[in-house]
Amino acid sequence: MADRTLLFVKPDGVKRGLVGEIIGRFERKGLRLVGLKMLTFTQELARKHYEEHVSKPFYPGLEEFVLSGPIVAMVWEGDDIIELTRTMMGKTKHTDAAPGTIRGDFAFSTTENLIHGSDSLERAKIEIANFFKPGELAA
Ligand code: RTP
Ligand code: MG
Repeated sequence: MADRTLLFVKPDGVKRGLVGEIIGRFERKGLRLVGLKMLTFTQELARKHYEEHVSKPFYPGLEEFVLSGPIVAMVWEGDDIIELTRTMMGKTKHTDAAPGTIRGDFAFSTTENLIHGSDSLERAKIEIANFFKPGELAA
């Protein structure tokens, strides 16, 4: 199986009507969409997904933000999927994200930065399983 990653459009992206714009970028790049669903984070899922950040000072604000509305979770497949999607997302901080990236073109906040992407294949496996059952993904 080709490499896969877990991406989601954060609540700000859904509220701003940028779901189609974001999905379209990955489609036009030639990546394959293999899973898609809208859901709303629970506090339990947020703590599990963001386990590396739970003890950091920015976590309470991050948790409040990710629980603030529905997200669109996706699994994408392709060569070099982690690096490619992270490059297309742009840097975490809105002021560092280059024009032409999703965050560089649309984000005006570090917390509300539109999209999440797994940062390694190991994390991707864990994160995909946090959001999708095997039967919900294309073969
Ligand atoms: P992500 O996990 O969402 O794909 O983002 P990332 O790898 O670029 O950034 P990461 O360091 O993993 O941080 C996760 C998310 O936490 C929020 N954050 N806020 N206010 C702050 O200082 C701060 N730092 C991080 C952002 O929503 C970031 O994407
Ligand atoms: Mg991260």
